[in-house]
Amino acid sequence: MKKKIIIAGAVLIVLAGGLGARQVAVSQHKATQASSGGKYYNNEDAYAAGKTDSKGDTLPSRNEVITAPDSIYCLVNKEYSLPSDYVPSDLVEPNVTFSIDYESEKKQLRKAASASLEKMFEAAKENDLELVAVSGYRSYKRQKEIYEKNLKTRGTTHTSQYSAKPGYSEHQTGLVMDISCKSVNFDLQESFGETPEGIWVAENAHLYGFIVRYPEDKCKITGYAYEPWHLRFVGIPMATYLYQNNLTLDEYYHYKPSYDFITDESDYINDTPYMPSTSQPSSIAPVVSVAPSAAAPSAKPVTVSKAPVAASQKPAAVTPQPSLEPSKEPVASEEPVASEKPADSKKPVVKPSKAPVPSPEVPAASPEAPSPSQAPDKDDDTSNDSEESGE
Ligand code: DAL
Ligand code: ZN
Repeated sequence: MKKKIIIAGAVLIVLAGGLGARQVAVSQHKATQASSGGKYYNNEDAYAAGKTDSKGDTLPSRNEVITAPDSIYCLVNKEYSLPSDYVPSDLVEPNVTFSIDYESEKKQLRKAASASLEKMFEAAKENDLELVAVSGYRSYKRQKEIYEKNLKTRGTTHTSQYSAKPGYSEHQTGLVMDISCKSVNFDLQESFGETPEGIWVAENAHLYGFIVRYPEDKCKITGYAYEPWHLRFVGIPMATYLYQNNLTLDEYYHYKPSYDFITDESDYINDTPYMPSTSQPSSIAPVVSVAPSAAAPSAKPVTVSKAPVAASQKPAAVTPQPSLEPSKEPVASEEPVASEKPADSKKPVVKPSKAPVPSPEVPAASPEAPSPSQAPDKDDDTSNDSEESGE
């Protein structure tokens, strides 16, 4: 009898021990999931609640605009800005074909965006499509030079439609690459969207975590003209969610512009030049930044801040220039020459601008260039190269 009790006790201990170990394993698994951004156990519920994409990957709340510059979900638009001193800490140069063959900060992207861009370019190549990277990271200072030059040479309407004020450009996040292809002479223009490359990108970029940030039918929301070339990295779950639901990142956060950017263009340009209003857009609830999820590429702690982030609120590492002083950077020497053949023959030749810009710095159209599109050259960063007059 005593022996039976001992055996039964031992069995119970073993069973309890096993269960305990299992529970530990389960909670460790949950903890791992939670610390890595987590997954919903019931994907359908989470998807219906707008918390995940169709695969169950966690997305941030739609009710809190993420303004932390290091988050891949950071909203940057005409009313949500970045601190003037923000510089991503993990910029690298993707191993892809560029439209320029000289060293430049604009070849850089943040690490995760860079790796995804490489995959996207490879996938395009497998489909016999050759994508070309044109312009990625841009410092606040560089954006200021570009914006001010555009105001001078292209006027307020073009500038407002195609060029962000310094501090308001997504390029400063290091999560954007402007891309093009040979058939549009590596230019940034609307017609890129009609090329096989542009069509493929519009349909497949989300599979690599990118979105076409300024779609043709969302100008009133974004405040910018159609830019089929401007790809913003937000990670695969978010990109897929936005693509499937036909949303811009602004709409994801229920952002509503305070301006009619089309009719109030000069109001927008003149209001608080370069400096965001310290009050946030009226239609949006108070904003608290949240840490990036597992999909975020940076392990760096994220600052909790209220949006919009005033450039003046933080000490600026890069001091905003108060005037239209010429750049001290060796811009002229970086500027590609028309029909210049890059040293690396695999690299495309940078074409001269077709833009009818009365600027001595912008070269005239070359005879071998494709016919200009109906619309004026939209570019932005480049043809007229971002370095010179781009956006
Ligand atoms: N072209 C986009 C809007 C930029 O300047 O960031
Ligand atoms: Zn761009």
